[in-house]
Amino acid sequence: MNHSPTNLIEIFLNSEKADGAILQNIFDHYQRVTMSVKAINENDQHFKTTDAEACFLDFQRTWVLGQALKSFLRTKAKKPSKILHMLEAGSGTGIMAIFAAILNPNIQIICLEINPLSCQKSQTFIQALKLSNRIKVFNLDATKLDAEQLPEAKDFDLIFSETLSGGLFFEPQLQITQHIKKFLKTNGFLIPQKIELFLHLEDPWQKEPLTQKIKYAEIDFLNYEKNTITADINLGILRSGSPNIVVITSELTLTENFKITTDPKFTNFLNKAIILIPKSQQKIFQINDIVNLQMQYQAGANTSSCQIILRKL
Ligand SMILES: C[S@@+](CC[C@H](N)C(=O)[O-])C[C@H]1O[C@@H](n2cnc3c(N)ncnc32)[C@H](O)[C@@H]1O
Repeated sequence: MNHSPTNLIEIFLNSEKADGAILQNIFDHYQRVTMSVKAINENDQHFKTTDAEACFLDFQRTWVLGQALKSFLRTKAKKPSKILHMLEAGSGTGIMAIFAAILNPNIQIICLEINPLSCQKSQTFIQALKLSNRIKVFNLDATKLDAEQLPEAKDFDLIFSETLSGGLFFEPQLQITQHIKKFLKTNGFLIPQKIELFLHLEDPWQKEPLTQKIKYAEIDFLNYEKNTITADINLGILRSGSPNIVVITSELTLTENFKITTDPKFTNFLNKAIILIPKSQQKIFQINDIVNLQMQYQAGANTSSCQIILRKL
C-alpha cells in the first residue's frame, strides 16, 4: 500500500519502537523534494546539511525525540483547542517541527537554523508537506536571537532544541538554551530538560574500566548559568593499571518519561566522549588507591581542549 509522507510520519510516531525502514521512506521523500535546492557554499558551517540529514536517519534518536514531543503534545498541552507556540532552535532538516505539526493541528512553529542550505532544504520539505502556514524557518543564529527578529509570537509554550552530543562537547546546546530561554512562557516547557554526565577511567590494555562510573555534573538547561563544566571527584581504583583515557557518558532527560543514555546502539547521538590523559599524568595505580580527577571544559568545545589533572591521593 502506498502511504503519503504524512501517513508515514504518523505510523513512525505511533510505532512501539523505532522503525528505520519507515524513516528511510520519509527521508527518500525529503530527498526527492529537496533535490532541486541549489547547493550553497557551506564551508563556514560547523554543522553541514549532510550532518543534519545523518541525524534525521539516526532512527533511534529521531524516534525517541519524536516520542518526547508526542508525550508533551498529548499530556502537557492540556487544552487541545488552544493555539500552542513552539520554537525550535537548530532545526536542521525540519523533521522535528514537522513531527510537532503533525502531532498537533493547533501548533504554530518557528524554527531557527544557522546553516542556509539546511534552512532552504527544510523550507522546501515543509512546503511539500503543506505545512508552511504553520512552520516558519528563519536562517538565524539561535545564540543571538533578538525579539525583533520574531515575526509574531515572542513567547513560547514549548522550546525544543537538539544541538548536542555526548558530554556536551562539540555542539552549542548550552549556549543556545541559555540565550533563548527568555522566550519561554512562565510555565512553558523545554525539551530536553537536563543532562547528567558521568565519567570513569580506562586502561587500553584492560577490558573492564579501572574505576566505577561517577556522576560529575547535572545540568538543568533552564537554570545552569555557567558556560564551563567542571569536575573535582575522587575515584577508587578497582583493578591495577595505568589509565590513559577518561570516558564520559551521558543521560539526557527529554521529558520526565523519556530519557536517552549513551548506548553503542545509537549511532552518533550522545556518543561516548573520550579525553586523553596527558602522558605526564599517566601512572600505574594499584587496586584500592584513591585518585583525584579535576576536569574543566567549555560547553560545546572540542574534547582536545578539556583540561585535566589526575593524581593519587
Ligand atoms: C543535531 S542537528 C539537529 C537537527 C534537528 N533538530 C533534528 O533533531 O533533526 C543541529 C542543527 O542545529 C543547527 N545549529 C547549530 N548551531 C546553531 C545556532 N547557533 N543557531 C541555529 N542553528 C544552529 C545546525 O546547523 C544543525 O542543523
